[in-house]
Amino acid sequence: MAGPRAVALLALLALPVPAAAGGPAAAACDVPPDGRFDCGPERLLAREGCEARGCCYAPAGPGPGPPWCFFPRGYRSYRAENLTVTAGGYTARLRRVVASFLPGDVGSLRLDVGLETPTRLRITLRDPARPRYEVPLATPRVGGRAATTLYGVQVNQDPFGLVVYRQRGGQVLVNTTVAPLFFTDQFLQISTCLPSHFISGLGEHLTPLVLDTAWTRVTLWNRDMAPTVNLYGSHPFYLGMEDGGLAHGVFLLNSNAMDVLLQPSPALTWRTTGGILDFYVFLGPDPKSVVRQYLDVVGFPFMPPYWGLGFHLCRWGYSSTDITRQVVDNMTAARFPLDVQWNDMDYMDAKRDFTFNKKSFKDYPEMVRDFHRRGLRYIMIVDPGISSSGPPGTYKPYDEGLKRGVFIQNATGQPLIGKVWPGPTAFPDFTNPETHEWWHDMVKDFHNQVPFDGMWIDMNEPSNFVEGSQDGCPNNSLEQPPYVPGVFGGRLQAGTICASSQQYLSSHYNLHSLYGLTEAIASHDALLRVRGKRPFVISRSTFAGHGHYAGHWTGDVSSNWEQLYYSIPEVLLFNLFGVPLVGADICGFVGNTSEELCVRWTQLGAFYPFMRNHNDHGTRPQEPYTFSPAAQAAMRNALRLRYSLLPFLYTLFHRAHSAGETVARPLFLEFPKDPNTWAVDRQLMWGGALLITPVLEPGKTKVSGYFPAGTWYSLAGVCAPCCTAGSQVAARGACASPGQWILLPAPLDTINVHVRVGHILPLQEPAFSTTESRKKGMALVVALTLDGFARGDLFWDDGESWQTFERGDYTEILFLATHVSDGGWRGASRHGAHLDGVLLEAVTVLGVTSPPRQVLANGVLVSDFSYRSDTQVLKVPVSLPMWEQFVITWF
Ligand SMILES: *[C@@H]1O[C@H](CO)[C@@H](O)[C@H](O)[C@H]1NC(C)=O
Ligand SMILES: *[C@@H]1O[C@H](CO)[C@@H](O)[C@H](O)[C@H]1NC(C)=O
Ligand SMILES: *[C@@H]1O[C@H](CO)[C@@H](O)[C@H](O)[C@H]1NC(C)=O
Ligand SMILES: *[C@@H]1O[C@H](CO)[C@@H](O)[C@H](O)[C@H]1NC(C)=O
Ligand SMILES: *[C@@H]1O[C@H](CO)[C@@H](O)[C@H](O)[C@H]1NC(C)=O
Ligand SMILES: *[C@@H]1O[C@H](CO)[C@@H](O)[C@H](O)[C@H]1NC(C)=O
Repeated sequence: MAGPRAVALLALLALPVPAAAGGPAAAACDVPPDGRFDCGPERLLAREGCEARGCCYAPAGPGPGPPWCFFPRGYRSYRAENLTVTAGGYTARLRRVVASFLPGDVGSLRLDVGLETPTRLRITLRDPARPRYEVPLATPRVGGRAATTLYGVQVNQDPFGLVVYRQRGGQVLVNTTVAPLFFTDQFLQISTCLPSHFISGLGEHLTPLVLDTAWTRVTLWNRDMAPTVNLYGSHPFYLGMEDGGLAHGVFLLNSNAMDVLLQPSPALTWRTTGGILDFYVFLGPDPKSVVRQYLDVVGFPFMPPYWGLGFHLCRWGYSSTDITRQVVDNMTAARFPLDVQWNDMDYMDAKRDFTFNKKSFKDYPEMVRDFHRRGLRYIMIVDPGISSSGPPGTYKPYDEGLKRGVFIQNATGQPLIGKVWPGPTAFPDFTNPETHEWWHDMVKDFHNQVPFDGMWIDMNEPSNFVEGSQDGCPNNSLEQPPYVPGVFGGRLQAGTICASSQQYLSSHYNLHSLYGLTEAIASHDALLRVRGKRPFVISRSTFAGHGHYAGHWTGDVSSNWEQLYYSIPEVLLFNLFGVPLVGADICGFVGNTSEELCVRWTQLGAFYPFMRNHNDHGTRPQEPYTFSPAAQAAMRNALRLRYSLLPFLYTLFHRAHSAGETVARPLFLEFPKDPNTWAVDRQLMWGGALLITPVLEPGKTKVSGYFPAGTWYSLAGVCAPCCTAGSQVAARGACASPGQWILLPAPLDTINVHVRVGHILPLQEPAFSTTESRKKGMALVVALTLDGFARGDLFWDDGESWQTFERGDYTEILFLATHVSDGGWRGASRHGAHLDGVLLEAVTVLGVTSPPRQVLANGVLVSDFSYRSDTQVLKVPVSLPMWEQFVITWF
């Protein structure tokens, strides 16, 4: 193994710490404050206790900052021995040379380094003597080792450390020698330096896109909590940017409660409370490749049905079928598109799953069938907690569940009883195969009565209104581990069930953060079996790999401007996590929205991959039709713009599903070499082609956005016939070279959307649902580069059958505009499945520098084309079958 180029730790501030009696030598304590690693993870230590651990003590200021008690240089923990080459890479034994200060040291460890692919490395640390819990996520099995790799690995013997560096350039990506390794029964810790401060990921939290490395603690332990602390999901994955626009990623496959600490040297420390250390390192070398390499491990996203990309409307408080029907009628009367009507718990009988209220929802099945007749779909909420308090024989889900042994058990082997909406509840254990069968049976029974189209699974952290259970929790090491991460409430049981409760695969202590994922898998599978079509599941709780089965909404966000902004980094991060079907509750869930906030939120929400307006009970109504005519007009524009763009959005989802791409995309994924883009999280992109610059503050009619180098065309007015008829063409190339911040006009009725040159967007005339819009005329927007080039594609199928791509039952059209000898532009269709009757009706070409004399469509003269030399826009009305190949030329 070749060594990397030497990279020295920057000694910014070298304050000599006087050696105290009993402490380590002064020289060993001479660590710059930013590079100090905490030697008192589980409790605060005074000088005496600190030095008794062989650590250095140096009081600093109050608040977040360097730890007062920190490890000296060369602090010994494990020593690596017997490093040998294996079929897959390397293996070594680690032996603990000095006992740690926490109970349950694992004295001997097995290190395996798997050179899995040229860009992916797997590093595991296990107890060779005693198998420990490992996350039951199916990851790729690799036989041999990659012959040539982008990375090199170096093992430091004593103290043990591992270095991962780039073969080319020598950049060190991981160096765990910076602090001692801990591997005890319930406390595992490993640290690394970071190549830059640009670290993104480690969800789910209310954070900007780029994490703050100034002494930040990020806690992962799924929790029902209005967005503040450790939230609903756990994604122990980060993407780091390096000089020159290179990127790498690190995934810790571990589901235990954990903290990740960031410090300004910069460095990162993983602290987890169980399982094993199982790392994947992804070498990119560009950020898009890092995401794909991560998704190669956790799974590519599922393909949503086409209708799932339409507009969804929901509220807690639609108290009857009459009210729910009124909502749909009012949407129709006000001419708003709507694809999916939802109900919150209101439909249930006594808030119990798989029941409905026989009075207020008397005609529930008919209501859903009526919606279907109108071309709409229907989704209702389902919670995991199963009501346990009724007399036997009165509630089948509980009776059957008891009989089939599907519930999580407490210390005495009985169903653990907590309390959620219906009162006392038992919690299905979705790691048990029998629970999947039982869940399917319940879903099927209910679907036989109410033909719903998708499932909204909430409260699945799982949330519990009593701490642990109605009988409390035992006092044992799982409930009171020696180290408790910074979970909200300070205890693992807070807001959920007992950590020591038993599930089929392991203790809840290990499986807790997988609860939502396992319920999502069971729901996905049940829906597929019951409906025979592509499942649509939206879940609050998530874990790595979730996007393969379901989408996510960002939980109980408040109706305020701050949360409007935070929804962008959250949507972008979930795309990096492989959960592209994600969105926040438009206009906010908790609290009263304002008209202006709701307009701006609807405009941004039109660019959430999952677009739903959802409201709390008791707050002011926020359906689009409840606002002033001017606000309604603005919202209608935003919705029509989204519906126009659905063919493009659907194609992006296909690329995510088939190639591990993102849908909503941070700018740095497209422009990694421009460091100005790295932290941009008040804008987002759709694929590589669209840049969206929403207004995120009250009272503003201008908005500043970053435009990376290149030409960008405003989409406003160029997408006829999809936008309001007769709207004036206002395409102007905003030429940003080099990249720059541009102040854009943004009156209340406008959201700024720009097309990047070189791209072709497929659009379709909007309608009031996708059932209708899928039959409408299509259009293309072609943004030519200076040398007259652009490309794009369209993925099309029947919109809801299972695995159309896998079965080859789809059409993929590549659009290509090239500056050929005769000038012109062409579209090429592979085969025309499911496009029968759909016509291409308009082509708008941006960046046509000189007026064309003649335009031909399939060789036939087009006489009514229009061209404006001020905007350089060419508009060609056509009527061409989308299911056949066509060529359009101009010269
Ligand atoms: C390393 O190998 C030697 C010789 O086989 C053995 O005695 C020693 O115990 C091994 N070390 C570890 C930590 O397993
Ligand atoms: C890794 O970190 C250790 C401890 O800070 C340092 O001595 C060593 O030089 C680093 N190795 C590399 C390759 O940067
Ligand atoms: C629907 O609109 C009617 C007429 O404006 C109004 O009275 C009713 O409250 C609306 N219903 C809902 C559920 O918004
Ligand atoms: C376990 O739950 C049952 C109810 O299912 C309860 O009666 C029993 O007391 C609980 N046991 C413990 C140890 O909490
Ligand atoms: C749990 O037990 C430990 C010792 O077994 C004891 O020190 C601690 O106070 C107990 N905690 C609670 C909450 O009862
Ligand atoms: C929300 O608006 C309603 C009226 O629609 C009002 O009764 C309530 O007090 C408001 N709530 C808050 C938190 O302002």
